[in-house]
Parts: sequence; structure tokens; C-alpha cells
Amino acid sequence: MPNIISIQHLKVRLMSTGGIVHAVRDINLEIKSGEIHGILGESGCGKTMTAKSILRLYDEEKLIYDGNIIFNGEKDILSMNKKELENLRSKEIGMIFQEPITTLNPLITIGNQLSEVLRIHLKMTKRDAKARTIELLKNMSVSPAEDRYNQYPFELSGELLQRVIMAMAIACNPKLIIADEPTINLGGSMQTQVLQMIQDLRCNENMAFMIITKYFDVINEVCDTVSIMYAGKIVESGSVREVLHSPKHPYTQELIEKSKIAENSDEKGVAKTDSIKPDSHKHIEGCPYALKCKYVRGECHSNLPDKIRVSKSHIYNCFK
Ligand SMILES: Nc1ncnc2c1ncn2[C@@H]1O[C@H](COP(=O)(O)OP(=O)(O)O)[C@@H](O)[C@H]1O
Ligand code: SF4
Ligand SMILES: [Mg+2]
Repeated sequence: MPNIISIQHLKVRLMSTGGIVHAVRDINLEIKSGEIHGILGESGCGKTMTAKSILRLYDEEKLIYDGNIIFNGEKDILSMNKKELENLRSKEIGMIFQEPITTLNPLITIGNQLSEVLRIHLKMTKRDAKARTIELLKNMSVSPAEDRYNQYPFELSGELLQRVIMAMAIACNPKLIIADEPTINLGGSMQTQVLQMIQDLRCNENMAFMIITKYFDVINEVCDTVSIMYAGKIVESGSVREVLHSPKHPYTQELIEKSKIAENSDEKGVAKTDSIKPDSHKHIEGCPYALKCKYVRGECHSNLPDKIRVSKSHIYNCFK
């Protein structure tokens, strides 16, 4: 079975007013059909940059990509032309980003926005697109679907908008959905429902998901596999059970420890440490965690850590 997505040595550098920012520093990642893969890391570690780079959503005049992002075992997304990219974004990869309201046009009704996607990308007739839109809204429990069809985004609650975004993301039956913090700003019951919807889509449609989050419970509840990101690198990856229950990388261990003992209840279960982070403007020669690691030794500062394989899926990068 080919990987739906295979990221090989991806580096993303962007030009900011303060100089070059090394946002993603040589990451490798594979997601198979029907797999739910989580990317867990603290704010600023490069999660969104990785996600948006897969869809090439950044202004490429201010950005340099290196490496390959192979989609479905075929084409390198980093060498796709504009037309191929449009096709990829509309039909092959669905996306759910943090703020629903920025994804939807406030001046167009929910129904027309969804139907438009189906008419343009799947070449459906007006009538078929409307019928399919109502079906999608029903499947996502945006009810009563016939009435919601004619409403504008401002007339719907945040929770319903999130469901509309999900309906939009799956409308063209993509092979992969990238969801960046899909549960942020959602109440407990809505969070459970969104995670349930993701599981249903995987079971019924065999869709693969890349779920970006800083919440451990999202990873535990819905993901099969997880990558731990730190300072633009993936330091450990494997099945959720292996990585979160037998973490090997000292950073993963610290992250899990801190999430359990967070004093502030809002920070419990959140990926957050107080550790000094490497300067994002500087290239890192060795291990990104060397500034903080209690096991650090000389070579950690100057050499790339070894890739240690614990099992078929569980890998971490360290000299320990
Ligand atoms: N437009 C930008 N200009 C300068 N730096 C940026 C910009 N966007 C992101 N970064 C930097 O890139 C790094 C990764 O950011 P991001 O992928 O958004 O992190 P995350 O999603 O994990 O919170 C951070 O160091 C952030 O400060
Ligand atoms: S490579 Fe060195 S600094 Fe990095 S996590 Fe391992 S022991 Fe710590
Ligand atoms: Mg982000």
C-alpha cells in the first residue's frame, strides 16, 4: 500500500523582517491510507508551517523549500505547477484550519459555498450539487439541513460552522485531510463529536488524517500514530501507545511529565515546557534539544543525533 503522503527531508525557511527563520528543519514523515497521524508539539515548533507547506499555501516569494513531499506515491508536491496544485487542494487533500470563519465567505450562503465546490471541482449540475450538499450537511448533523442551506455563516454557531468546514473538507472525497488544531476553541462535547466524526470518516471512507495539536487527549483519543515536534524537527515518532506510554526521547519524556504536573489546570494535558528554545534564526548543527537536555554530551552540540529504531514503527533521534 503506497503512503498517501511521504515527506522526505523537508526544510522550510522563510524571510522575515528579522532575517531567515528556520521554521521546519529537515523532517521525514509518512502517512498511510486510512491512518490518523498526530503531530504534537508546543506553540512555535513548526506544526502549521509543515501543514501549510504540504498544500503550498505560503507566499513563495518569501519562502524556501527543500526536500520532497510525495503524494500518493506519485508526484512531488514541491514541483507541482499551479494547475496541479489547484487540483490537489480541491480534490485530493481536504483542509480544516483553526478559524472556521476565515475559511468561509461571509457574503455567500452555506449551501451555495458548498455547492460551488462540487460544481467546480466535480463538475456536478446545479441540482445534483444542491442534493449532495444537503446530504453532506445532514451527514455532519448541520440540521435542519434544508434551512441551513440558505443561511449565511454569521447565522450559525461556532460549532455548526466547524461542522460546515468539515463538510467542505470532505465534499470531494479527498484521500487526506489536514486538520490544524481542529478542536481548539471547542467545548468538551463538541470536541468529542469532532473526533468521532474523524474516526467515522476514516472507517467509512478510508480517509487518512494529519491532525496537528498541542493537546495530548486529541492524540490519545483519535490518532494511531504520532510525531513529536520540537524546534522544527521531529524528535520521536511511532504508534501512540509506544510514544506516549514508553517515550524514549528526553524531550518527549519532559513534555509528558510537564503536561501531567502543570500547576495551572488550563495547562494540564497541553504540550508546553518552559525550556529555552533554540534561536529560530540560527542553523542547528546537532540536537535541537541540547540546550536543555539533562543527558547532553559534547557530540550532541555538533553532530546530528543517531536515528534509533525501537520497533518497526517507533523511532527517535538521540545519542543516548
Ligand atoms: N510569518 C512569519 N514570519 C516570521 N516567522 C514566522 C512566521 N510564521 C511562522 N513563523 C515562525 O516559524 C516557526 C514555526 O511556526 P508555526 O509553524 O506557526 O508553529 P506552530 O504551528 O507549531 O505553533 C515559529 O518560530 C514562528 O515564530
Ligand atoms: S542527542 Fe544528546 S542532547 Fe539530544 S536528546 Fe539525545 S542526549 Fe539529549
Ligand atoms: Mg500552529
